[in-house]
Amino acid sequence: MKNIPVVMIIFGGSGDLAHRKLYPALFNLYEQGLIHDNFAVIGTARRPWSHEYLREQVSDAIHETHDQVDENDVKRFASHFYYQSHDVTNVEHYETLKKLAQELDDRYSAQGNRLFYMAMAPRFFGTIATHINDQSLTGSGFNRIVVEKPFGHDLASAEELNKEITASFNEDDIFRIDHYLGKEMIQNIMPMRFTNPLIKDIWTSENVKNIQVTLAERLGVEARGGYYDTSGALRDMVQNHIFQIITLLAMPEPKDLSSSSIHKAKQDLLESMIIPTPEEVEKDFVRGQYLGSDNTFAYKKEPNVDPESTTETFVAGKVKFKKGPVADVPIYFRTGKEFKEKKNRIDIVLKHMNNPYGQAHSNNITIEIDPVSKIYITINGKKIDTSGIRRENLTYEFSKEEMAKVPDGYERLLHDVFVDDSTNFTHWSELKRYWEFIDTVEDAWQKENEKGNPKISQYLPYRMGPKEASDIFESPTEHWIYE
Ligand code: BG6
Repeated sequence: MKNIPVVMIIFGGSGDLAHRKLYPALFNLYEQGLIHDNFAVIGTARRPWSHEYLREQVSDAIHETHDQVDENDVKRFASHFYYQSHDVTNVEHYETLKKLAQELDDRYSAQGNRLFYMAMAPRFFGTIATHINDQSLTGSGFNRIVVEKPFGHDLASAEELNKEITASFNEDDIFRIDHYLGKEMIQNIMPMRFTNPLIKDIWTSENVKNIQVTLAERLGVEARGGYYDTSGALRDMVQNHIFQIITLLAMPEPKDLSSSSIHKAKQDLLESMIIPTPEEVEKDFVRGQYLGSDNTFAYKKEPNVDPESTTETFVAGKVKFKKGPVADVPIYFRTGKEFKEKKNRIDIVLKHMNNPYGQAHSNNITIEIDPVSKIYITINGKKIDTSGIRRENLTYEFSKEEMAKVPDGYERLLHDVFVDDSTNFTHWSELKRYWEFIDTVEDAWQKENEKGNPKISQYLPYRMGPKEASDIFESPTEHWIYE
């Protein structure tokens, strides 16, 4: 791998994301030689840490995520880290930061390349972007910025933030990160769809009855009640992860594998996305909140959550496209906290066909994303002792050894940022369409809230979410495949 010279500035360098994800991922890239001698990382946050203290934190982060490491490598790697105490609203602090970045650029021969990473509370993203521009923090080489989710709270705020960021960065240099796009099984969707005639040829509106995406979580909101109560499942999971998955499932085949062709295929699809009317929102969407149990809080009793909250911890809904191979096929999705288990999966449900046996089980394609990674096709055959039909799975899976080698999503995506590959990042035109859809649903819900009697299904924890989620299907022969 080529050594990429760069000075990286992480806003939120003392935070949880940096500690759990970014530092270990950077270390792995360092070990592979992608960043080596010519790089420096400046961690910024308000706390008054020293360079030495940050280096200890970086070293701890690596030990916590790796079974075996070469201590000399950890030491050498950590020596590239610098800490700058920083208040994001203070102009002078940006001047200091700029000076430090320039000094490190000279010391490490980083060739004027800068990588900015927004890893702190999203309400500061706009302020930081504005200061990067006003105090000219960009370097004379490449300038890239990674922006964590959520990118805005609705379309208007996302547009505002985008304006602030594009004042200093071109669209090609803005990496809106969605960690789902770094997951192994999400990256398997395209090769699976486009290299197998068996799959490609049936991936059409004639053959597919519906598509189902489930992102179920075992845990509740934990310590994130304050953030979550202003967001809810629709903004937290559907606006980004679920829509990206659906886009990969429904988009037409790209001309080639270049980032621009893939984004073009996604954009073509998304232009044809049908935005629901308020009546359709009422009919096709279900929102819910988890109740408590003997040893867990109900959502409304979670710390930092409004006891009268109307924020949803579960949502199920439907989306359709006018174009693409599965035009007009209903794509159902659901996501929620406090399900019976963690399970991220996709089910492609094929239509039944008439057959001489008069019976058959549904013939589906399932992609399990987490916690196990596999693809399987449910297939009909003959029972051994009768002429009856039996159902088995044809499975594509990875060995334990292979799974152990799968890099964490952040490592993959950071690698892509270094090598300037934006394939697995959200383009502005995609994000805009996602927000248009989300805003319509949120507006309809808001109106319902204002009328004083919002329909929010309360569901028991550690089961399958509200039973009303089964009411959104278009026909009585449809049901959730994962139950
Ligand atoms: C994050 C959400 O984007 O994704 C969290 O903010 C959620 O609320 C998480 O728990 C789920 O990610 P994963 O990779 O654990 O499925």
